[in-house]
Amino acid sequence: MIDKNQKTIPEFLLESQGVDISKYDEMFLRKTVFRRMTETYCTTEDAYFEYLKQSYIEGEQFIHSLQISYSEFFRNALTFSVLEKIVLPSILMKKSMGKNKEVRIWSTACASGQETYSLAMLLKELTKGVDEKLNFRIFATDHSESQIIVAKKGQFHESALSYLSLKRQKEWFTKEGNIYTVKAELKENIDFSVFDLFSKEHSSPPNSIFGDFDIVFCANLLFYYKPKFRTQILKKTTGSMSADGYLITGETERDILIKSGFGEIVPQSAIFISPSV
Ligand SMILES: C[S@@+](CC[C@H](N)C(=O)[O-])C[C@H]1O[C@@H](n2cnc3c(N)ncnc32)[C@H](O)[C@@H]1O
Repeated sequence: MIDKNQKTIPEFLLESQGVDISKYDEMFLRKTVFRRMTETYCTTEDAYFEYLKQSYIEGEQFIHSLQISYSEFFRNALTFSVLEKIVLPSILMKKSMGKNKEVRIWSTACASGQETYSLAMLLKELTKGVDEKLNFRIFATDHSESQIIVAKKGQFHESALSYLSLKRQKEWFTKEGNIYTVKAELKENIDFSVFDLFSKEHSSPPNSIFGDFDIVFCANLLFYYKPKFRTQILKKTTGSMSADGYLITGETERDILIKSGFGEIVPQSAIFISPSV
């Protein structure tokens, strides 16, 4: 979409707000334009572009609408079930036989922390009462500082816990009114930090010192980006994995990995091994 001066919305927003949205997928941007048109009662794309040019606040609002941070505990039941029953037990078995006893995980776009805490619950449960030297560390990152602040707090409204069994709710949370707070015990193996997957300086979160991750979660963000930038993210994440590591995406992003030559370990699980393995 262009205006009379042949300027596109991304070009206009770069100039007016200093924010580069050119990496986002065309379709995703179009859907955002249509959403904003409805919200602002603009009946045509041209009318919306004119409104955007007149309202600095609408520019901020448009950029804000691109920050989709929806998440759920144990999002994609099949993924978490294969993790619990196959992937994590096999990693833990290998670690218990080797010198390096630490399972290393990178949750690359953790949003408000549901994915990270779900993983921590599984690992706490699976390592309880086994080889006490076995340990795990989850590096949870997001490019949004505000999301990391929320994730670190670990406070959730009761409606966010509807996919969690009562047993897990009782074991891993304290309750006050309708707010559930993650217990300190569940946070102790997690390192939250701000990290942009397009960082040119670092190949993995600096806090992790070196990558070598057994599992990298890269779920529900690839589809927001143009194919060229999805490839950049996949290069970065696979580059930080151990040789026999697993890459996990969202349910709707499986096709992107399958087309890039990744092998899905169980059909529909969204858990992949790298094409080079
Ligand atoms: C829809 S949420 C997904 C949360 C979680 N992974 C899940 O699947 O439930 C997408 C998250 O990706 C983050 N994100 C988008 N682009 C990113 C980037 N370039 N680097 C790091 N995080 C990014 C957003 O801030 C947002 O919190």
